[in-house]
Amino acid sequence: MSQDQDIPSIGGGFHATHATGKADPHQPDSFAFDAESEAQIAKIVARYPEGKQASAVIPLLYLVQRQMRRQTGSAWVPRAGMDAVAARLGMPPIRVYEVATFYLMFNTRPIGTHHLQVCGTTPCWLRGSDEVLRACKDAGELKGYGDTSADGMFTLTEVECLGGCVNAPILQVDDDYYEDLDYESTVRLIEALKRGEKPQPGSVIGRQTSAPEGGPLTLLDVPGSQGTEKV
Ligand code: FES
Repeated sequence: MSQDQDIPSIGGGFHATHATGKADPHQPDSFAFDAESEAQIAKIVARYPEGKQASAVIPLLYLVQRQMRRQTGSAWVPRAGMDAVAARLGMPPIRVYEVATFYLMFNTRPIGTHHLQVCGTTPCWLRGSDEVLRACKDAGELKGYGDTSADGMFTLTEVECLGGCVNAPILQVDDDYYEDLDYESTVRLIEALKRGEKPQPGSVIGRQTSAPEGGPLTLLDVPGSQGTEKV
């Protein structure tokens, strides 16, 4: 496939051109790493042996996405950004496109200011992810998955297991996890985001990391010669 052809839409894949053949108006003509990204690139690329710089492709795509958020308010990876990564790492552009369109964490289209990612996999579903989704739709004024609110504030995406099942259900907002949610707490979270606040990520019921509700229940005693001592 020529890099001038459309790229198949895999995992939220992008199209450099519409089916009409017209240029995609969302795609910027160029992308250049800013000073903040350059400082990070120097550290990331140095982790890999000479000749293995292509291993840095995922971290560099993240840098593109974060720079786009800084510069445009929308965290996504345009094709010009993928080309910049390819040039920096000495890779054929198609190899970078393959990575960027495979992993769902890279947005290949512009998204809202906040990316609401609802985990719908079994543990979260059993613990009420349908209510989290309903709250996102109600409070975020979203029609469903794939939608961006009219004010550009939120984009809603369904994701598979986020690896936080122990505190299910989980809503990922941008790069942060909010845990132990229900309908009401999800609405409160979204209302806070609308006010420009950034609530503390983690368990919304005050759970200490993934400890049981109310505090730890195990490893409370240390056996000793004087009998059992409380830690
Ligand atoms: S099932 Fe939702 S975090 Fe694992």
